[in-house]
Amino acid sequence: MENAIHFRLEELRKAKHITQQTLAEYCGVSFQTVSKWEKGINLPDITMLPLLASFFGISIDELLGVVPLKEEQYQSIWEDSEGFWNQKLDYLQRTRGYSWNEDYLQFLVEKVWKIREPIHVLDCGCGYGYMGVLLMPLLPEGSKYTGVDIAQNLVEQGKKILKENQILGEIVQDDFLHPKVWDETGKEDAKFWQNQKYDIVLCQSVLRHIGNAKEFVAKMLSMAKTGALIVCIDTNREFECTGLYVDGMDYADLCDHTGMWKYWKKEFENGERDYAAAMRNAYVMKELGVKNIEIRMNDKVSFVHPEIERYEQVKEDFMESENLWNEKYEGVCEMLFKHGMTRAEAKGFCKRKQELGDFLENHPDVCYTRFRGKMITFGYKA
Ligand SMILES: C[S@@+](CC[C@H](N)C(=O)[O-])C[C@H]1O[C@@H](n2cnc3c(N)ncnc32)[C@H](O)[C@@H]1O
Repeated sequence: MENAIHFRLEELRKAKHITQQTLAEYCGVSFQTVSKWEKGINLPDITMLPLLASFFGISIDELLGVVPLKEEQYQSIWEDSEGFWNQKLDYLQRTRGYSWNEDYLQFLVEKVWKIREPIHVLDCGCGYGYMGVLLMPLLPEGSKYTGVDIAQNLVEQGKKILKENQILGEIVQDDFLHPKVWDETGKEDAKFWQNQKYDIVLCQSVLRHIGNAKEFVAKMLSMAKTGALIVCIDTNREFECTGLYVDGMDYADLCDHTGMWKYWKKEFENGERDYAAAMRNAYVMKELGVKNIEIRMNDKVSFVHPEIERYEQVKEDFMESENLWNEKYEGVCEMLFKHGMTRAEAKGFCKRKQELGDFLENHPDVCYTRFRGKMITFGYKA
């Protein structure tokens, strides 16, 4: 069991701008004793804890760092969504390539969605246009793609990628939910995407990152022609978390996600990410009047072993996308703690990540299986 205690005396005393001597006098001990408590050489007698807690106006659990201080209980990492995604180009490029089997998307296009005529696709929260590059060559000739994303860096990269891949269409920087108001002198781009109706309106890995999926899907519907195909693609967080097997590691450890649900739930309750978006999407669509809703499962499962092409790169991308780098763990642990995990759970989580990172680094021929649990929910605008 990880140590759940993180005695916060020194930081509390410093935040109050008082000396060790002042605190020592209040407790009736020497300042050397306070110094030893702060350095962790000794801990105060249990009878001293209520006195210390009341001195700082906090609970004993807060003093011992078993729960966060009230004022730091929840710290959003999503306040600046545009800024967050602007820095995620590398992450997206490292993960996207592993998320689809092209033949499965082709199967959806031809056999399930039965798309036979040229169509106009709107990709909402398109990132750098990954879905455009994947989907457009599978559609009838003459089909067009429009992507909208809030993050400038991704859009700039996306524009280049569309050009390189000779895809008919455009990527536009805009907030899909609160688009720029277009006027005669204003942005042509904004006018361009807002003034049309589309045959397919899709989003991939967007709804799980926002707290207002219903508003987003309602906006998608408003951009769709009558009868248009509406597609929401998302990962189910629980499947994704358990979808890892690393040969040589204890599978029980890999399946251990103690406390994660607290973190996910906390974010959801604070109107941020929805860890169950993939499971909920069908219900959101149904409430909004979408017809003939179905759910499919993306069939991509990666089996990574030294004989595959670009093995080293694939492994490195995996490690990068899973944040398996040691130096970050202290910050991650604090963040998880402030997002609802106990300190022991947060430490346990980081320890398991660290073990996984060490194992992958120290085993040059490691094999692993990765399943991401992407669900494809679709239906038609009435
Ligand atoms: C996980 S990424 C997925 C990107 C892309 N769909 C893909 O699968 O590669 C989520 C994207 O949603 C975008 N996004 C979130 N809220 C948005 C909004 N209100 N308007 C436009 N884009 C948004 C982010 O900028 C980010 O690029």
